[in-house]
Amino acid sequence: MKFDRDRHTTTSEHYSFSTADKTPLQGMLAKWINWILSKSLNIKLERSKPNKRKEQVSFQTETNIKSQQFSRLAECLKGLFRQIGLNTCENEIQKDLLLFDKIFRECPISSLNGGMGYNNGLFCFCLIRAIQPDIVIESGIWRGYSTYFIDKSIPDKSHILSFDINLSLIEWKSPKANYHDYDLSDYTEPINGKTLALFDDHVSHFNRIKYCFDKNIEFIILDDDVSVETVHSDGCPPIPTANMLVNYEQIPHHFSWVSNGRKGQADISNLDTKFINRNYSYLSAPDFFEYTGYQNTSTTSVMTKKRCA
Ligand SMILES: C[S@@+](CC[C@H](N)C(=O)[O-])C[C@H]1O[C@@H](n2cnc3c(N)ncnc32)[C@H](O)[C@@H]1O
Repeated sequence: MKFDRDRHTTTSEHYSFSTADKTPLQGMLAKWINWILSKSLNIKLERSKPNKRKEQVSFQTETNIKSQQFSRLAECLKGLFRQIGLNTCENEIQKDLLLFDKIFRECPISSLNGGMGYNNGLFCFCLIRAIQPDIVIESGIWRGYSTYFIDKSIPDKSHILSFDINLSLIEWKSPKANYHDYDLSDYTEPINGKTLALFDDHVSHFNRIKYCFDKNIEFIILDDDVSVETVHSDGCPPIPTANMLVNYEQIPHHFSWVSNGRKGQADISNLDTKFINRNYSYLSAPDFFEYTGYQNTSTTSVMTKKRCA
């Protein structure tokens, strides 16, 4: 065992990391500078935290482990998709998972912080590949990560209608997308064809589901779908969320919480929610940590229009 008291670590002889980013001489110099600073000024220099998500810098490199991992995940996704009326093939999902992993590694966006992350991206990517929509409405672009995986998941002839009230942060633009700097509710063009809407804009899911129902949109993805129990985890929860709406009869309609020191309170009483369960099947993506090694950034849910509705 090797004890590194400065780093608070004890490492075993069974593995090692290459220190390609730093020569041993640089390492010794840094240690020496820190020693001087701590003795003379009682301060210590620390490497600033990278502005990247864990998924961007830590990943599986062994092809056979990855294929085992994705085979188990494909089986899980097939079962989940069946619950919302989508019949898919495990082999196809496995290919989609490999493709997603590849495009994720090639993603040109500097930081995925504030975006949907690996797990939610992977779930949406496979879902969109299974649905093959003609049109994807995306609300909430941020730097463009969700636009990126939507672009890679749809056929060339399909297109994207992207909305964000502030387009200034976009780093990657899709040639398949039309960009709009206003809320979707102000969009007046007709929307024809098999349509999927992806909402990651923290706007009330009730408004978004009602919009989709009125426009006869068959497939809806809703990110940040917190429940009354997990509402404190989101700094800007899209209340009432899909989870609150499908469980409307079982949950309190007045509730409060504290998020980052701010007290929140909600009144979701007197909503006509019956049309939701009557017309849509609902599924929340589970935690995919056991398959990917990453935590979900938030809960993503999907609603599909019931055939008989
Ligand atoms: C969580 S970020 C989106 C992350 C992005 N989907 C990704 O995965 O990288 C939320 C975005 O929603 C946008 N937003 C806020 N209100 C909105 C609205 N009414 N319509 C569309 N976008 C909105 C914000 O400007 C912000 O860019």
